[in-house]
Amino acid sequence: MNGRDGSPSLADFYRGDSDDLFDKCRRFSSVVSGAQLREILRYQYRLILEGPLDHRVRVRDPMTGTVKDMLCFDSSSYFGLQLHPRVMSAVRQALDDVGCGTPSIQILGGTNRYLQELEDTISAFHGREAALIFSSGYAANVGILTGLLREDDFVARDRLSHASLQDGCRWSGARFGGSYANRDMNDLERLFAEESEGAHGKLIASDGIFSLHGCVAPLPQLHAIAERHQAYLMVDDAVGVGAIGATGGGIEEHFQMKGAVDILMGSFTKVSGCLGGYVCGSKDLITYLRFFARSSVFTATLPAALCAGVTESFRVFQGAPEYRVRLWENARRLWKGLHEAGFVVPELESPILTVFMGTDRLLWAFNRQLFDAGLKCAILSHPAVPKDESAIRFTVTSRHTSDDLDRAVEAMARTGKQFGILHRSPEEIRSIGERLTFPSSGAI
Ligand SMILES: Cc1ncc(COP(=O)(O)O)c(C=O)c1O
Repeated sequence: MNGRDGSPSLADFYRGDSDDLFDKCRRFSSVVSGAQLREILRYQYRLILEGPLDHRVRVRDPMTGTVKDMLCFDSSSYFGLQLHPRVMSAVRQALDDVGCGTPSIQILGGTNRYLQELEDTISAFHGREAALIFSSGYAANVGILTGLLREDDFVARDRLSHASLQDGCRWSGARFGGSYANRDMNDLERLFAEESEGAHGKLIASDGIFSLHGCVAPLPQLHAIAERHQAYLMVDDAVGVGAIGATGGGIEEHFQMKGAVDILMGSFTKVSGCLGGYVCGSKDLITYLRFFARSSVFTATLPAALCAGVTESFRVFQGAPEYRVRLWENARRLWKGLHEAGFVVPELESPILTVFMGTDRLLWAFNRQLFDAGLKCAILSHPAVPKDESAIRFTVTSRHTSDDLDRAVEAMARTGKQFGILHRSPEEIRSIGERLTFPSSGAI
């Protein structure tokens, strides 16, 4: 068992001693369906929605089957544009035009005018020569990194970057480099000093905003280090685009460093609330990746109707700066409320806010209470975050009303008081978690 509180973590089930491949599956299944965890986990994972995923949701109670209205803070869609009438109408028109899917790979039969228009929209949005669309942000990161890097290359990745960026670096087979501590430029310099000798191409890869805690990468320093070592710079700006920069242009605009990133990656889940990912950059880079990014070459293309919806969502977003203003007003209001209530919350750098819980035991128990209080948040536990740094994550959207946010703060404060974790240090919160016992029937 991994946590200080003895609670199980997914990392415990990564491997087992047995020769039977399924042994770890059986062990995992018996723990999560065992009396101690079954009920509590049913309130954390795979809750069934009975309607759209928006700032308010209708959720089926996993134990009683009744439908409950909740405030929602775990939608990635900053502006709820997946529900915008213009976006839905663009999707409908494309559906009528070409049907539900685009069942071919992009470089053969899968390119159509909707995809082309989306590529043009993205490259223009970021001021780049070209863009390539993937079926998800995950596929984009893996495709870019495995498509570009070879075994003689060096890649340095920020340790807290998204799993898809980590996987892409690892699976690329690049033998030089490794990971550096989150936003730690000395550690990045150490990697260059110790691990780059003899390497051919060099790349630094980092998230723009780290999706776990919402903090921003130090682009000026990353860029300077890349220049000094003749390395290229890749930024996964999935979380930054739409949220930061004077017009929501993302990390380059935030630091007023347009064009500083050589390989700029993004996702359509945040601005558009839809599905898909992209990379943009020079024409040479994109042409190469069209043929060598295996997660594009060996898979069907994003359906035309989705492309049409995403293109329209960018038009809506660019024509409505008030959405972004509202997003930040909301983020500040929630942050202030949680901070003043006495929770441990990191500085506000993006619409993603985390509240420290420390142990999984406290995280699960707390989140179980939040369900009853009508709050749906994301939970972060090991191995997504370091051991004993579990947290509750809020993604704020422009759709939340002031009333939603105030009710969320109230529910959090009530629950925080009940567990005795307000105005406490992280260490005190951890030991409160260690002393908790699991509920037998919902009540903590
Ligand atoms: C920083 C980051 N990169 C990549 C992804 C993956 O994007 P997608 O959900 O489009 O696969 C996410 C998703 O949340 C993310 O936060």
